[in-house]
Amino acid sequence: MTGTENITSAAFRFACGRFATGVTVVTVQEESGKRWGLTVNSFSSVSLDPPLVLFSIDLGANSYAAITAADRFAINVLSAEQQTISDRFSFVKDEDRFKDVPLLTGEAGEPPLLKGCLCTIICDRDNTVPGGDHTILIGRVRRIVVTEDKTARPLLYYAGCYAGLKV
Ligand SMILES: Cc1cc2nc3c(=O)[nH]c(=O)nc-3n(C[C@H](O)[C@H](O)[C@H](O)COP(=O)(O)O)c2cc1C
Repeated sequence: MTGTENITSAAFRFACGRFATGVTVVTVQEESGKRWGLTVNSFSSVSLDPPLVLFSIDLGANSYAAITAADRFAINVLSAEQQTISDRFSFVKDEDRFKDVPLLTGEAGEPPLLKGCLCTIICDRDNTVPGGDHTILIGRVRRIVVTEDKTARPLLYYAGCYAGLKV
């Protein structure tokens, strides 16, 4: 008896939804040039030295194989102006999610970097760890791009809805 038998997934999801997060889009690019991206709020920093971050990806995601196989990924941290980008990378299924999405010019071999983000963290895959119906990807940070716009605000996610920061 672990004590978790009585916790329904709905109750667990509800409880986890009380933890407010930012919203990111994780991107990779295959050697063939095919690009993949999905909206992710399980992002977290892990370690300062060495600089490590993590996110978890659903085993059932269409992009699962591409994301977990990629040597490099980018975490694009969305601004309050980018709710449509978050929707695009979570709900659009049968078309190229990158169509008409403005990108920054990255360095050679980097994944797609979305324009207009608060910051983009480019990582080499460091480790993958099984996590139930998700896999946790740990990345070692190799480059960071941060917006110079001091007025930019984050897109937040709370209780299953988008939210904004009141400052
Ligand atoms: C705010 C938000 C956060 C999300 N966070 C995650 C996440 O951390 N991990 C994950 O696997 N899916 C997450 N999703 C769901 C995926 O974005 C969604 O299932 C997407 O369609 C997966 O794309 P794919 O099936 O093409 O790989 C999130 C969705 C939203 C709207």
